[in-house]
Amino acid sequence: MKAIKIAIHLIPALFAATLGTSAVAGEYDAIKAAAGAEFFDKECHRCHSVDADRASYGPLLTGVIGRKAGSFEGYPYSDALKNANFTWTAGAIRAWMEDNDGLVPGTKMRHVGVVDATVQDFIVTYLASISE
Ligand code: HEC
Repeated sequence: MKAIKIAIHLIPALFAATLGTSAVAGEYDAIKAAAGAEFFDKECHRCHSVDADRASYGPLLTGVIGRKAGSFEGYPYSDALKNANFTWTAGAIRAWMEDNDGLVPGTKMRHVGVVDATVQDFIVTYLASISE
């Protein structure tokens, strides 16, 4: 009986601890996504739209995470990217930002060379936040 009482006592504390952690994680992601939006503006936006109504030189990046490479309907991809057989994950996008022509030789995206892991992380978090 005593053990049960203690256990019941612990439940609200555990619950609060879990809530606290996820709230912080959510807040961190929001801050990272906001920073990522700034980096995206600086490094990617001139070629990539995130607005389906606006045509851009590069393919639309809304919803890119989880999308098959070279598969955005109607975009004139290079043969290299069209025939690349993989799906965009967070890791693939990091590798692409760092060395896109190394990852897919023959791509028509100019080498952007974002090598800073923190900047890569922010941009990926931003892209994930606009993936829904
Ligand atoms: C100078 C213009 C330019 C810049 C700057 C640029 N891109 Fe691209 N991007 C392109 C083009 C063009 C393609 C299509 C490549 C092909 O067809 O080979 C592309 C393709 C992509 C793809 C593949 C999408 C798909 O549908 O398969 C991703 C992901 C991507 N870019 C991310 C980025 C990110 C992130 C940045 C910023 C760090 C960036 N790009 C900066 C022009 C650019």
